[in-house]
Order: sequence, then structure tokens, then C-alpha cells
Amino acid sequence: MVKWVGGKTKLLPELLARMPERFNRYYEPFAGGAALFFRLAPRRAVLADANHDLVGLYTAIKKDANAVIRQLKLHRDSHDEAHYYETRTRWNDREVSWSTPERAAAFIYLNKTCFNGLWRVNRSGAFNVPIGRYTDPPICVPEALHAAQQVLSRAEIRRADYRTAIADAKAGDFLYFDPPYDPVTTTANFTSYTADVFGADEQRALADTARALVAKGCMVMLSNSDTPFMRSIYKGFRVERVKCPRAINSNAAKRGDVDELIITGGY
Ligand SMILES: C[S@@+](CC[C@H](N)C(=O)[O-])C[C@H]1O[C@@H](n2cnc3c(N)ncnc32)[C@H](O)[C@@H]1O
Repeated sequence: MVKWVGGKTKLLPELLARMPERFNRYYEPFAGGAALFFRLAPRRAVLADANHDLVGLYTAIKKDANAVIRQLKLHRDSHDEAHYYETRTRWNDREVSWSTPERAAAFIYLNKTCFNGLWRVNRSGAFNVPIGRYTDPPICVPEALHAAQQVLSRAEIRRADYRTAIADAKAGDFLYFDPPYDPVTTTANFTSYTADVFGADEQRALADTARALVAKGCMVMLSNSDTPFMRSIYKGFRVERVKCPRAINSNAAKRGDVDELIITGGY
């Protein structure tokens, strides 16, 4: 649907292999591109993120995918450099009043045509990525949006901090947490999905939340970078190292496989 930094598409086989066989409700409170959610297509789910635009997008598709598709066709037909920058300016202008499908379509359009598909906002929350070089970007794929609508129709979508989003989880529910990464090096500090940061204290608080959920009878799976700090805060959980091709670094030469942890508990 949207390309998102930290997207889990490449890690899906590893995640699927470590899921519990049975669960009641599925929770994904750091949804991002929600790769696992869309792959699983759960019967009952809570999909949440702190990012307002992302939640607006999923809500719009759930409600009326055809309205979003109509708007996307307009973007596809006018796509060029001038249209990209005009749309980016309007996106960042808080005075512009867009309908929900219009804003959702602009989000998909910018996401599919921006440089590297990297959704980055600056400190004040403005989207500032230049246009990418694509010959035929997949701006409007109606089948994909209809399929997403099907899956979203069975989910409750929440814009909230993860703690609020999962407050009603009960024994037998399964929660997948994919928080912003613990930086592997001090320069790899990509934290700008939203204008907020997710630092060491937040990682610790999340580990406490995971522990409380397991104590309540929930099943929990988390992914994060393989750092000594992450290993230290998930003592008592099953911690497994997997290889994950990651594309966070905008310098292609510095990309490459990094080790990732999949942490599970409660099953
Ligand atoms: C690593 S990304 C998720 C990637 C996703 N699994 C995928 O496949 O694309 C982390 C997400 O957490 C969200 N986020 C950051 N802090 C949060 C918080 N305190 N509560 C809920 N969501 C948060 C960000 O907006 C971002 O979308």
C-alpha cells in the first residue's frame, strides 16, 4: 500500500514462522505500512499508529476505496515535476482543506513518487522529500486498494500512542510490535516517522508493556535491531536473531543486511 521506512515485507517469512497458531484478536499498534497485518488478513484486528496521516489513509480506504481511487486517477493523469511539488506544498499547508479521500490520495501519490519512497518529515512535521526518478510509478492500482479495503473492513483503526491502542487487549489476543528501531550506531538515528522520537526510555517502557501483556495471558511478538541494549531489556523472552535486508540508509552503498531480533513471549 504505502512504502514505509522499516517496512516489514522482507521479514515476513521470519515473522510468519514465529506466530502463534491460534489467537483471538490481532493488534498491530505500530502499523506503519502494516505489512504483517495485510499479509495475515486477520478476522478481527486493531490497527493503530501515532501518525495521523497514516491512520487517515487507512480510515479513508476502509470507508470508501473508490473515492480514493478517483482522486488517485487525477494525480496519475497530471503527474509531472510541477504537479509533485504543487501537491507537496498543498500537503504541508495547514490552511488547505481537503476531503478525507483527497488527503489519502495525496499521501499515496507522494509516497509512490517521492525520492526512494522515503516518507520523512522535519521537526515541524513537514514532508520535505524531493521527487524520485521513476519512469512509471504505480500511482493508482485499484485492485490493491480494493484488496486492502477488504482486510481493513475487519479492523478497528485507532490513532493513538501504542499504550492507549492496546489497552483493551485480553488473554488469548496476539500483539505484534514493530516500534521505531533502537539505533545500531549513533549515526543511524532515523526516528522521523512522526515529529516525535522513540528513545531508550520508550524502548524500556515498551518492554514493560510487553511483560505486562504476557502476564495477562496475551501472546506478544516484537521486532527490533539486534543491539546489546535490546537484548538486555527483553530478558525472559525468547530472543532470536534473523537477517533482514534493510534500506534505511539513503546511501545505497551503506545498505545491506543487518541483524534483527524477533522477540516472542506468552506462547
Ligand atoms: C518501524 S515503523 C513500522 C513498520 C511497519 N511494521 C511496516 O511493515 O511498514 C514504526 C511506526 O511506529 C509509529 N510510532 C512511533 N511512535 C509511536 C507511539 N508512541 N505509538 C504508536 N505508534 C508510534 C510510527 O508512526 C511508525 O509508523
